[in-house]
Amino acid sequence: MIAIGCDHGGFALKQEIMHWLTEKGWEYRDLGCYTEESCDYPVYGRAVAKAVTQGDCDFGIVICGTGIGISLAANKVPGIRAALCTDCFMAEASRQHNDANILALGGRVLGTGLALKIVETFLQTPFSGDERHVRRIRGIEELGN
Ligand code: RB5
Repeated sequence: MIAIGCDHGGFALKQEIMHWLTEKGWEYRDLGCYTEESCDYPVYGRAVAKAVTQGDCDFGIVICGTGIGISLAANKVPGIRAALCTDCFMAEASRQHNDANILALGGRVLGTGLALKIVETFLQTPFSGDERHVRRIRGIEELGN
């Protein structure tokens, strides 16, 4: 189960991603926003982050205009590793190296085709589990929030 959320700047891309997830057989929970009316990204970043840390969802996808604000918000929730990705290399590394549990995207940055490839790469790439990556992730956790 994927939790997905956005602000108005990510609304159009979220619609495309939800359509793609359905086509590919992924289940998702849409946590808003639900219109293109101006709204505040921390609300939706937090909602997606909580759905992931509470175990209701395996991964999250958050989208705002740049992906920056909503990833900053999601990363305030303990246990979240939200990765803002602008290409497939970053999406792959965010899973292999960082065990990212939320993918952040910029709706005003990426074209739909690239965004969907990034989503696919993120969802299909496992964490490597390598000791050095586990150690570094633990190091992030020790920094607290
Ligand atoms: C909204 O205009 C915009 O600031 C927001 O979507 C996002 O880009 C913030 O980081």
